[in-house]
Amino acid sequence: MKKISFYFLYFSVLFFLISCSEQRSKSRVLNQRESIYQPSQMATTMRQMVFDMESIKLKLKAGTIEVKDLNHIIYAHSSMATDKPTDIEEIQPSFEIYSQTYIDQLEELKQIIQINGEISDQILLFNSALTTCISCHTEHCPGPISRIKKLKL
Ligand code: HEC
Repeated sequence: MKKISFYFLYFSVLFFLISCSEQRSKSRVLNQRESIYQPSQMATTMRQMVFDMESIKLKLKAGTIEVKDLNHIIYAHSSMATDKPTDIEEIQPSFEIYSQTYIDQLEELKQIIQINGEISDQILLFNSALTTCISCHTEHCPGPISRIKKLKL
């Protein structure tokens, strides 16, 4: 029983750290107690994006990044454009522009990798894509911004 409460606390803290806002994650913790908490499609994609960008960062640093890594994330992250969000009312008209810009930047990064371009150019594009994450988050979901900043190289 003790162990279960520990895990509950651990995951609550984890959600608190990555969710859109403190307010929201508090209500999520309550929801979780009442029923099994289900993150939205979009929130699930976004959580995966954090892990994917973490792994891309390590590969860029190590110089082991491949075109297939980019193909994978371009495909997986594109779903944000059609994923169901927690609250559709919070989605601004700018959402579409940011999500398209983000995918375009990943495409550009892929092209640079394809031609064996300079590592410094690869890093520049990786960081630009993260800047787009931050811009979209500034308008939609400020909670994870500091977490996203830490992904930069
Ligand atoms: C086009 C806008 C947009 C872009 C680009 C974007 N996000 Fe998000 N992000 C959102 C919105 C909107 C939500 C809220 C989703 C929901 O609650 O359904 C969100 C939620 C999140 C969350 C919280 C998930 C949760 O558990 O509630 C994280 C973490 C996150 N994004 C990370 C990222 C990262 C990392 C990137 C870039 C690699 C990124 N986002 C790019 C709009 C964006």
